[in-house]
Amino acid sequence: MNYHIMPPTGLINDPNGFIEWNGKYHLFYQWQPFKTGHGTKFWGHVSSTDLVHWEHEPIALAPSEWYEQDGCYSGSAVEQDGKLFLLYTGNVKEDDDRETYQCLAESSDGKTFKKHGPVLHLPKEYTAHFRDPKVWKKNDTWYMIIGAQTKKLEGRAVLFQSQDLKNWTRLGDVTGTNTDLIGEFGYMWECPDLFELGGKEVMVVSPQGVAPDGMLYHNEHQCGYLVGDLDYEEVKYRHGAFVEMDRGFEFYAPQTLVDAKGRRIMIAWMGMPDQYEQKHPTIPFKWIHSLTLPRELKLVGNKVYQVPLEEMKMLRGDGVSYAGAEMVNEEKQFDGVEGDVMELGLDDISGTFERLEITLRGNARFIYNKETKLATLERASFAHGQTESRHCYLEELNSLRIFVDKSSIEIFINEGEEVFSARQFAYPENKGYSFASKGYVSFDLNKWNLNKSAAAYQVQDERYA
Ligand code: FRU
Repeated sequence: MNYHIMPPTGLINDPNGFIEWNGKYHLFYQWQPFKTGHGTKFWGHVSSTDLVHWEHEPIALAPSEWYEQDGCYSGSAVEQDGKLFLLYTGNVKEDDDRETYQCLAESSDGKTFKKHGPVLHLPKEYTAHFRDPKVWKKNDTWYMIIGAQTKKLEGRAVLFQSQDLKNWTRLGDVTGTNTDLIGEFGYMWECPDLFELGGKEVMVVSPQGVAPDGMLYHNEHQCGYLVGDLDYEEVKYRHGAFVEMDRGFEFYAPQTLVDAKGRRIMIAWMGMPDQYEQKHPTIPFKWIHSLTLPRELKLVGNKVYQVPLEEMKMLRGDGVSYAGAEMVNEEKQFDGVEGDVMELGLDDISGTFERLEITLRGNARFIYNKETKLATLERASFAHGQTESRHCYLEELNSLRIFVDKSSIEIFINEGEEVFSARQFAYPENKGYSFASKGYVSFDLNKWNLNKSAAAYQVQDERYA
């Protein structure tokens, strides 16, 4: 991957501790350095001044203490009195038993962390699937939302408060399976993140155990958001329906920050805890998974849009453009529209077309069908080679921005109204893009090669990295 955050070696999963602190963006991540599988997690660390060029920092947290002996699991970062604090889950496994501790660590230099140990023990109402603290401040009080499972195996999001980050009081479950707000919706809710956006409170969460429903929820586990109003006094979060955050194949456990410019920015794991993990084509090269691009969130009506960051334009190199390109019942390639590290833009998409298709590097295809109003991403599965697809309804298709990296695609539709994120393992030599239309379509086409950013490690893997 040339401009995505990937592990130096081993396995990366959730983004953690995403914060702008002391004039720099810091991003930590769940990391298993020793194998391309899960297990005892570390916190890897990268920093950046622009969210595009990242520098690798020393390991932030290693599982060295009894309360985290089986992993420093996911969590978040906050600033207090000029210092950087991390709140994370200490994971302990004894045979089939599990213990969970919410822990605090502190840093003055943003590089080395002093551990304070557990600050919150498991309340008796939940199983040990109780983790991933996300902390924020409101009116001089700290709040923390935690992903949890009740003893009846219901996924919940639990709210706590504190004055000092060390003593926490439970306020209650703000929502979850079998509450009056949402029915049966999974046995465990991972990585909740609750924040203000456009005058509302949005909660992004990753529920496990939600069954497929029509075209929805076809990944192994789901990730989506709720929009509503949180009453901190009553401890009531009145929200609307769960909406899938991303429509693609690999997108899970996102985390957000708000930066000095007031932007709410989200980054996610471009992976999925799934049964096919051991079939990933990068495993022979001793690494697996990556993070998505960071995206700016905007609330439009009750919909959360995800917009590529303005800063992404810094990576643009040379390119080609075709203003007012037209197609009628044909398939074609555009000279110079090729590559495996690039951005593709289609603007002002118009015409009476029934279908527009873009085939990317031979084994993935984006399709918009104007009759059925269906947007589709299909790809050859890296696990079994069969075509698999994901869909969403889309009233109309106006624009596309597609970010292609060596082994990923992220398709932003209509300025972020919908996004499809996916890993793609094309034949390395296939760098072609083919366009097909049924009916008449016109658009402005732009393609830029993107420069390499320091996010990527030099791994011995020319094909997918
Ligand atoms: C989500 C998750 C979190 C946990 C972490 C462990 O992918 O399962 O709930 O803290 O990964 O790596």
